Amino acid sequence: PAFWVVIPAAGVGSRMRADRPKQYLQLGGRSIIEHTLDCFLDHPALAGVAVCIASDDPYWPNLRYANDGRIQRAPGGRERCDSVLNGLRQLGELGANEHDWVLVHDAARPNLARADLDKLLTELADDPVGGLLAVPARDTLKRVGPDGRVIETVDRSVIWQAFTPQMFRLGMLRSALEAALEAGVLVTDEASALEWAGHLPKVIEGRADNLKVTRPEDLEWLAQRWSAGRS
Ligand code: CTP
Ligand code: MG
Repeated sequence: PAFWVVIPAAGVGSRMRADRPKQYLQLGGRSIIEHTLDCFLDHPALAGVAVCIASDDPYWPNLRYANDGRIQRAPGGRERCDSVLNGLRQLGELGANEHDWVLVHDAARPNLARADLDKLLTELADDPVGGLLAVPARDTLKRVGPDGRVIETVDRSVIWQAFTPQMFRLGMLRSALEAALEAGVLVTDEASALEWAGHLPKVIEGRADNLKVTRPEDLEWLAQRWSAGRS
């Protein structure tokens, strides 16, 4: 089935401590956000993309994708979820229907494998709710107190790390995000808004190297992978 994409790209990258928002840092000769867009742009089922960009962002207009007909700019918001909501509204203006699938994917996550994207689309195609790429916890997990001492070991078998893309129906996702924001609950990803609204998003196991560039060592790691040739 056809799908739309929202790319939240209005963060400042405070944990990265770079001279610009991390989505504009270079990876293998191009910016991270260009690699991220490349993950979707040549997909045959792609209907269109909304990219959420801060109003004072001087970098986006200089990228060649700023003038690409498949991509529409939407305003950034204060938090990630505000940016995503702006992107969803932009898709509505592009002609997306309430029942259409939307994939929300972080601008700072440039190493999404095509096989994982297709796995997500295929496994959720008939799902009543939708879901997300995720990875089962690998390391032993500890609950730690404010004094830095371990309180207990957590049962790893039920813990997954939530990645993106996260795939939901446009109408259901927008309603859940609006309601969660209205209620003031913390939503750090799309699934958490759906969960709060009482739905049960499905996890689809993806590759662990679909990582979000958050700290400098993440970009160093990806740069090494890139120079070695993407697998
Ligand atoms: N994002 C956004 N709008 C915001 C905050 C974040 O569109 N108000 C985007 C970021 O650009 C990023 C994605 O959401 O692509 C994931 O967020 P995160 O990794 O937290 O990025 P930043 O908020 O930029 O980084 P930090 O939290 O370290 O400041
Ligand atoms: Mg952030």
